[in-house]
Amino acid sequence: MSGRTVLQALLLCALPLGMLGCDRAPGYPKPGPEVVRPDEVVDFPTLYKQNCSACHGADGKNGAAISLSNPVYLATAGEANLLAVTAKGVKGTLMPPFAKSSGGMLTDQQIESLVQGMLRTWSRPDQFAGQTLPSYASSTPGDAERGQKAFVTFCARCHGADGSGASITDGGKTEKNGSLVDPTYLALVSDQNLRSVIIAGRPDEGMPDWRSDISGAGSRPMNDQEITDTVAWLAGHRVKTAGQPYPQHP
Ligand code: HEC
Ligand code: HEC
Repeated sequence: MSGRTVLQALLLCALPLGMLGCDRAPGYPKPGPEVVRPDEVVDFPTLYKQNCSACHGADGKNGAAISLSNPVYLATAGEANLLAVTAKGVKGTLMPPFAKSSGGMLTDQQIESLVQGMLRTWSRPDQFAGQTLPSYASSTPGDAERGQKAFVTFCARCHGADGSGASITDGGKTEKNGSLVDPTYLALVSDQNLRSVIIAGRPDEGMPDWRSDISGAGSRPMNDQEITDTVAWLAGHRVKTAGQPYPQHP
């Protein structure tokens, strides 16, 4: 076959293909794969729904894990912590690493899109103008003895003086709050998570933030040390063999 014949043959084949490929042919699909590759999904609502909503709730609330749509949480955590946790997860808890570099399924661009999406959609920085927020991570060692006192002052009315739970009435409905000192619960959460919940509350479940745990006369926000100490007291209830009915002897 001469070069020309090959070209002619190609042209003959290409012609009908070219006509079929024409955009205006009715019912003919546009070029490109019909299904977007998982790597190429970068829009925030889809990424959030597919990867986060099962644990953190649709719209970032009412999930089992901390509310991510809580502006107080977003303001204290800030972009850098959100990026780090989303990428690397939290070891020893149910929060998985998402970045490919940490064994997850998402690209750096997708992690970035998730974090920017959370901040754009849910953060309300104007609410905290001129206020000093507690630091995201504790900066001093905690003292469990002082923490117990702080717990009684700030938390007992809803969680019981010993943290084992209490009944609270909200809008005519009475509900029993679960135990915070249950070793099985404590085995599932990190100290940072306890701290984040104390600072940001769980507005979706009726728990106030660090500013309003006590109400009425003499009410005041918790200070940073009280938050740190309360975490130390709660964490002191962890046991080595959580979830097992009897401690194992070596
Ligand atoms: C006005 C009532 C109220 C006060 C005050 C309060 N909480 Fe809560 N807290 C709740 C409710 C409601 C929940 C959600 C129900 C549950 O988890 O049992 C909750 C949940 C929690 C959780 C579990 C949240 C999670 O997502 O894992 C922790 C930890 C917690 N509270 C700690 C504290 C500490 C520590 C204090 C004091 C600094 C405190 N709470 C003060 C009402 C309160
Ligand atoms: C399988 C359940 C699960 C899924 C899915 C999940 N998380 Fe989490 N996440 C958790 C738990 C549990 C924690 C608390 C970890 C701890 O104890 O520190 C957490 C903690 C976090 C924190 C840190 C909270 C703090 O205290 O600062 C961030 C940020 C977060 N998740 C973001 C995400 C994002 C974004 C996604 C989706 C890409 C996601 N999570 C998917 C369970 C989950």
